[in-house]
Amino acid sequence: MNGHGYCYVVLIWLRNTAMRLLLLRHGIMGSPMNKLPPAELPMLVRLFHYYAGWADKIHGLTCPADGPYHVQTLHEPIGVAGQIIPWNFPLLMFAWKVGPALACGNTIVLKTAEQTPLTALYVAKLFHEAGLPPGVLNIVSGFGPTAGAALASHMDVDKLAFTGSTDTGKIVLELAAKSNLKPVTLELGGKSPFIICEDADIDNAVELAHFALFFNQGQCCCAGSRTFVHERIYDEFLEKAKARAMKRVVGDPFKKGVEQGPQIDSEQFEKVLRYIRSGIESNATLECGGGRLGSKGFYIQPTVFSNVQDDMLIAQDEIFGPVQSILKFNDIGDVIKRANTTRYGLAAGVFTSNVDTANTISRALKAGTVWVNCFDVFDAAIPFGGYKMSGIGREKGIYSLNNYLQVKAVVTPLKNPAWL
Ligand SMILES: *[C@@H]1O[C@H](CO)[C@@H](O)[C@H](O)[C@H]1NC(C)=O
Ligand SMILES: *[C@@H]1O[C@H](CO)[C@@H](O)[C@H](O)[C@H]1NC(C)=O
Repeated sequence: MNGHGYCYVVLIWLRNTAMRLLLLRHGIMGSPMNKLPPAELPMLVRLFHYYAGWADKIHGLTCPADGPYHVQTLHEPIGVAGQIIPWNFPLLMFAWKVGPALACGNTIVLKTAEQTPLTALYVAKLFHEAGLPPGVLNIVSGFGPTAGAALASHMDVDKLAFTGSTDTGKIVLELAAKSNLKPVTLELGGKSPFIICEDADIDNAVELAHFALFFNQGQCCCAGSRTFVHERIYDEFLEKAKARAMKRVVGDPFKKGVEQGPQIDSEQFEKVLRYIRSGIESNATLECGGGRLGSKGFYIQPTVFSNVQDDMLIAQDEIFGPVQSILKFNDIGDVIKRANTTRYGLAAGVFTSNVDTANTISRALKAGTVWVNCFDVFDAAIPFGGYKMSGIGREKGIYSLNNYLQVKAVVTPLKNPAWL
């Protein structure tokens, strides 16, 4: 069976087992049951459906060449694809990686994050039930410095795809370079600006900016973690953003009405609290939150800082927690420059009712995705990836296919050039 067959069979099975998967994911990762990440499960199904559709449409070209030669390209699987996924979206990251690799006919060794090993094992079991032959998809549960490093430096792994932090991405790239020069795609950290222009509908902008940051406990690489607000609407925006954050329902992710569960583990929990202290020490204004919630579990109060300056650590580093930083701007040219004062370039958002402003800002920003009057809108067909230190390459859409293909040029002399 070719990659197309694998994808399609698996798709049908995933639909039938949707509910089991849903329970599993939320039971593990601490995300509220009733506040689903926008359609994480339907998106997984859509991804496999999309890439199943690609599998029989991947083919080479004939290339006109000078001289009496017939030239064709063959698009071949690259071989064994090593894939390393993070804990923040265990199901979705699995699909982003496995879908295109299978569609292109590769075999896969995928390492899960140590915090969330069960989801991929469970889905792999479904793949097995669906008829995927043994050895095509292999899941390794393990830690980065051991299992991850072994995969990145293995001489028989032909390609590596990694999603995680920028620091770890550098290690992965170095290991790949030092071993067999396997091509590497990286999807790394971000510090995405969300620019609220003066003509924005304030209530909608407040809600969207809140969602852009707090979604998934703030544990998103593309979180809108720098909320730039035009000075003319800054005061009103700030009051409302603070009120919205204070209303956010934090607690047991299995309880009805809960919007925010705990952070993933103690390491992340401590890191977020350190950044909150850093924000206070650097004289940003703490509007609300600022500490742990309760005394049990890794719950953090929804936190809002105002008067945040570009050079503060909370405006430069990826916090990966429920901490919103609000910055004031007065001019489009100025905010474009300031949006770029970061080593990252993963995503950005713009909120405006003026199409010229939207076009100007979205073309100027160095970001792999720019959401205009929306945020966190994903689809199998929309590429995702970063500029600058947010990564190398793009995943999803047509762009993912090249990551998993080798192109071979076959050149054959034509016997009777006189006839041409
Ligand atoms: C914060 O403000 C205090 C009091 O004005 C000042 O002493 C301190 O140097 C400031 N810290 C920073 C990092 O600017
Ligand atoms: C954006 O930042 C990068 C470095 O991070 C710099 O090389 C580039 O010139 C900046 N571009 C603009 C338009 O400011």
